[in-house]
Amino acid sequence: MIDCRRHHEVTQFVMGRVVDGRPVYTMACYYVDGLLIDTGPVHVAGEIPAAFAEFPVHTIVNTHHHEDHIGNNAVFQEKLGVGPALAHEKAVPRIVDPRIWTGRLQPYQHFVWGAPPPSAARPIGEEVRTESYTFRVLHTPGHSDDHICLLEPERGWLFAGDLFISERAEVLRSDEDALLILDSLRRLLEYDFEVLFCASGLVARNARGAVAAKIAYWEDLKERAQALYRTGLDPEEIRERLLGPETALYGLTGGDFAKVHLVRSLLRI
Ligand SMILES: [Fe+2]
Repeated sequence: MIDCRRHHEVTQFVMGRVVDGRPVYTMACYYVDGLLIDTGPVHVAGEIPAAFAEFPVHTIVNTHHHEDHIGNNAVFQEKLGVGPALAHEKAVPRIVDPRIWTGRLQPYQHFVWGAPPPSAARPIGEEVRTESYTFRVLHTPGHSDDHICLLEPERGWLFAGDLFISERAEVLRSDEDALLILDSLRRLLEYDFEVLFCASGLVARNARGAVAAKIAYWEDLKERAQALYRTGLDPEEIRERLLGPETALYGLTGGDFAKVHLVRSLLRI
């Protein structure tokens, strides 16, 4: 499924595999002025040419190397003549030859998004220009070490990839670093922006307020977790006290998305 939604000059493409008539775990790519930010999961590759028939892509930027963000680079390059994707220098080898990391993909990731095929990529510079806009590239590690955000200061747009997700995120992937995410979020607040476009599909209008609220929520959680840890509780007990039982995502992802990962990461243990 590829669903197209307009947000003034920015067009959001929500993508996801359909199972039993319902999309599962969708993600969002963003198109503006010939620039496509992320390309979605390979499971929707067959739908790409028709979905983008009226949206000519000149440049692809991948916010990071994850399979749901680079999966259709190859379709755009092979069928629609788009050049190498631009990405952080650490992401480039992972995009060019995903086999160096896709062996670690879990069954749920294969089922929901699929392993991405190889595609061309090259390191992104400090900014990306389109005909009408200039996007500043911000390195924002934490969700992954190769994660970038794009900021268009004149319009107040922040394309945040998987850095933000939600104000009150209570689960973390096993490979994410919550303290690094906090550092990256704090650095975002050094810039002015009004609208945050998240790869989860969320478009936050009070963007700086939303980022500040997430920082405050996780900082408070960290302090309470540290206090409980000092009393001798282990991470599972702290998770139970502060966040309650794991969500359905825990079982669906084989434990990859878990509240206890957030507790451990905030405690850095
Ligand atoms: Fe991701």
